[in-house]
Amino acid sequence: MIEVKDIRAEFPLLAREVYGKPLIYLDNAATAQKPRCVIEVMNDLYSTLNANVHRGVHYMSEQCTERYEQARRIVAEEIGTDDSSEVIFTSGATAGLNLVAHSYGEYAFERGDNIVVSEMEHHSNIVPWQIVAERKGVEIRVLPIDEQGELQVEKLNELIDAHTKMVAVSQASNVLGTMPDVERVVAIAHSKGVPVTVDGCQGVVHGGIDVKKCGCDFYAFSGHKLYGPNGIGVLYGRREWLDKIPPFMGGGDMIKRVSFAGTTYAEAPLKFESGTPNYIGAIGLGKAIEYLRGFDKAELLGYERSMMEYATERLERIEGLRIYGKSAQKCSIVSFNVEGIHNYDIGMILDKLGVAVRTGAHCADPLMEHYGVSGMCRASFAFYNTMQEVEALCKGVERAVAMLRR
Ligand code: ALA
Repeated sequence: MIEVKDIRAEFPLLAREVYGKPLIYLDNAATAQKPRCVIEVMNDLYSTLNANVHRGVHYMSEQCTERYEQARRIVAEEIGTDDSSEVIFTSGATAGLNLVAHSYGEYAFERGDNIVVSEMEHHSNIVPWQIVAERKGVEIRVLPIDEQGELQVEKLNELIDAHTKMVAVSQASNVLGTMPDVERVVAIAHSKGVPVTVDGCQGVVHGGIDVKKCGCDFYAFSGHKLYGPNGIGVLYGRREWLDKIPPFMGGGDMIKRVSFAGTTYAEAPLKFESGTPNYIGAIGLGKAIEYLRGFDKAELLGYERSMMEYATERLERIEGLRIYGKSAQKCSIVSFNVEGIHNYDIGMILDKLGVAVRTGAHCADPLMEHYGVSGMCRASFAFYNTMQEVEALCKGVERAVAMLRR
């Protein structure tokens, strides 16, 4: 049984006020708040054990290296691989997806090839592919959604051909909440010999991933949405790919030997971790994962889903309000617009009531184009939110609409 009051007590920021009102934080899909244990472990490391990793024989460097590599093992176990060299620490999902697009693209793309990208992707799983595709003369094909916001996974059978080199999809849309059957995506793509990259930013929070069961080739996520620190992320890559693709960025720690006659590279994961890594962030992420292990995942999901369903049912009673994304499998994200009212105006009134939601295009311009809108309001729920907060959101939207329609 989830005791939300006790959970909230572990998240110091949730106790704050804005404009003299209790904060109601419903922008969790943008970034989640951090439990005390994550904040404390990072404070503690900066106060007592900060030394660069993989570089020194001195005590603190060795200790820090061990903690960093321990964090890698925690992540590996969490995402379902027993080979921690398949876990690359990055600065976030965007960095991970850029790494795949550039390194894999460099290795595999030839003029006349194509890749398939879903219509519901965040810009970070579109633009890196576009940059490489343009350079290499590769076509981008779009896997569409239907009006419910359901990804048309079976259409992969028509889109993939002998020149397809990658399928890129999101495990959960940051706008629609749609959670497509990623295993089915992988099954179709692999049956045609095509690898799959999954943006796990939202999905890793809502249900997590078993990369081996899923079978995907690459999987990227950010720490800050998973109640961990900012500036740390993970790229999982199947070892066979990590051995084949070239490094993305050069620098210290990613080499075997450097000479002006030629340089050789370290093995994965270090091959892809040039420069001083964010080891304190990685250890903080490990701590966030350990904190989450104290809960029953299914129970958390069920609770988050109940907030999403309540908000959906309650908001839809407002005349002229449309909710985008009604897929069968959906995470706790509710995006909406009210006819004749700009999403910013609703967001600004909610803000004055202490309710933080996201407004705008959500880094998903193609989705906005699909629905013919410039932006949407989005409420995204975490397990530390309460039904009273969901009710306050709905009352706030009612109030905003009444004011703006006047
Ligand atoms: N990708 C984040 C969001 O959806 C920032 O808000």
